[in-house]
Amino acid sequence: MYKMEVKEAAEAIQNKIETQPTVGLILGSGLGVLADEIENPITIQYTEIPHFPESTVSGHKGQLVIGELEGRQVIAMQGRFHYYEGYDMKQVTFPVRVMKQLGIDTLFVTNAAGGINEAFDPGNLMIITDHINNMGDSPLIGPNDDEMGPRFPDMSEAYDRALIDHARQSADRLNLKVQEGVYVGNTGPAYETAAEVRMLRTLGGDAVGMSTVPEVMVANHAGIRVLGISCISNMAAGILDQPLTHDEVIETTAQVREDFLGFVKELLKTLPA
Ligand code: 6GU
Repeated sequence: MYKMEVKEAAEAIQNKIETQPTVGLILGSGLGVLADEIENPITIQYTEIPHFPESTVSGHKGQLVIGELEGRQVIAMQGRFHYYEGYDMKQVTFPVRVMKQLGIDTLFVTNAAGGINEAFDPGNLMIITDHINNMGDSPLIGPNDDEMGPRFPDMSEAYDRALIDHARQSADRLNLKVQEGVYVGNTGPAYETAAEVRMLRTLGGDAVGMSTVPEVMVANHAGIRVLGISCISNMAAGILDQPLTHDEVIETTAQVREDFLGFVKELLKTLPA
């Protein structure tokens, strides 16, 4: 049933495009501007795609943009589905299944995240080296379709080592200082308390956000190699003496926009096959 829905959604998209995307891009809060750089774009609203959920948060659009970026055929999600919006894990990760069906083998996942590591500053970019699923749920719960992936998928390299190396080298070429660290996926929608942030630091987290983990788990299940990039939009609670607001998240991501765009473009331009 799930597979039929994935196929129908993929077919509806395939019918509107002539190219075969190989790289998927999930663009987080304030980072959707990357999709505006795609050449010869075909834009498809989520509402036009059968079985696709609908995006609701401000700062998030709800559309796919398919076309060429730095010589690669890409499919970008301008806006994603969050667990805190009330979607279940299967809905949150449905687009990843659809992108797999369309033929992608590589997924760049991006997000805005709060800095837990005190060596970080707002505006830093962070290569995600690993994650902690702190959402208390998994998109892989339920009957397993062996054609989609294994019952007990390996997550020991959820973020592809070669892509992490590639990201380091790309940042070096650009003279861009990029942090590295572990992303903690929380459900939201409330930001953490200061005590929770201390707990997450003790547990090994460097940044915290409300997305990414489900999509990355499904991508791994589906055999897609993943690169994750966080934009540290603010420090998590209790580090600086100031309240957290979504406006700050949007403001900071706007400030690092040029770094972010340059970084992802360099990543694509020099992406190993
Ligand atoms: Cl501080 N926490 C969470 N959960 N998500 C965020 C964030 C913080 N900052 C941006 N997104």
